[in-house]
Amino acid sequence: MYNIELGKSGLSVPTVAVGCMRIGAKSEKEICSFVDTAMSAGACFFDHADIYGGGGCEEVFSKAITPSRREKMIIQTKCGIRSGFFDFSYDHIVSSVEGSLRRLGTDYIDVLLLHRPDALMEPDEVARAFDYFREKGMVRHFGVSNQNPYQIKLLQNSLSVPLVANQLQFGIMHSSMIQTGINVNMYNESATVRDGGVLDFCRLESITIQPWSPLQYGFFEGCFIDCERFPELNRVMDTLCEKYNTTKTSLAFAWILRHPAKMQPVTGTSNEKRLLECIRGSEISLSREDWYEIYRAAGNILP
Ligand SMILES: NC(=O)c1ccc[n+]([C@@H]2O[C@H](COP(=O)([O-])OP(=O)(O)OC[C@H]3O[C@@H](n4cnc5c(N)ncnc54)[C@H](OP(=O)(O)O)[C@@H]3O)[C@@H](O)[C@H]2O)c1
Repeated sequence: MYNIELGKSGLSVPTVAVGCMRIGAKSEKEICSFVDTAMSAGACFFDHADIYGGGGCEEVFSKAITPSRREKMIIQTKCGIRSGFFDFSYDHIVSSVEGSLRRLGTDYIDVLLLHRPDALMEPDEVARAFDYFREKGMVRHFGVSNQNPYQIKLLQNSLSVPLVANQLQFGIMHSSMIQTGINVNMYNESATVRDGGVLDFCRLESITIQPWSPLQYGFFEGCFIDCERFPELNRVMDTLCEKYNTTKTSLAFAWILRHPAKMQPVTGTSNEKRLLECIRGSEISLSREDWYEIYRAAGNILP
């Protein structure tokens, strides 16, 4: 696996991140094995959130962090989602990060993301929280998730630190960011801009896009691989798997990584074999024709 720079942070990160939203049920033995497998494959970047498993995912994960290993790991977590509302207040951000540090059993977070836009956000309050973390050495880098260009600009206006990442849903079956760029000024559904042009904005601002749910269709409706609802996509992917001597899971990651924005997709599997397939997607270089063939097989149109 190759590395990329996370935004303009100077931090070199593996191009596939390991998502930890679904690891809550693992035993100590299982989580240690899962993390060993990831690290051995070069996947040392782990994505968490204070709310995953109600905090249980960070707690389970802490069992796989040894003092000698901590510096080799890059741990990202998120804050700002509460039960029934979003909260980017100074008090909540600080207490959330203190909770994550306690559950993870570490004294610093490498990257902190604001999880989902809070309509009541005061950018200066967020800036005060981030400055506090920097002063205390509690958080090294900062980013956002699910934000559009103007929301990011609004924050940037107050922050004294750069935003290095924006985590967004993206994958073969969730490619609205691509569709709008291909259908500019057309009278069809694909032309609808849902994100304010965030893909090109992030490229211009050197903010790394981290695709979440890379294998899901809809909003957590299921994995499209081998799903009978998508026969044409799976047929095309099967053919390309033979050509590239790979699996559909690897191919789905290769499709995301073929985009020149240098994205960092986040895996979701809790199965070690499938985790390695996701990571191996970084070794495949899809041709332009094959990338577009997958795009069209997913039901997308070209004008
Ligand atoms: N920022 C945000 O708002 C946000 C939202 C959601 C998620 N996330 C992050 O993104 C990560 C990934 O999201 P996700 O879990 O929805 O990712 P995903 O990779 O799209 O979905 C993973 C799920 O698909 C299943 N699956 C079925 N067939 C598979 C195959 N062939 N290969 C791989 N997985 C297969 C997995 O089951 P098995 O475990 O049995 O393989 C798992 O339940 C999360 O862990 C979290 O870190 C962020």
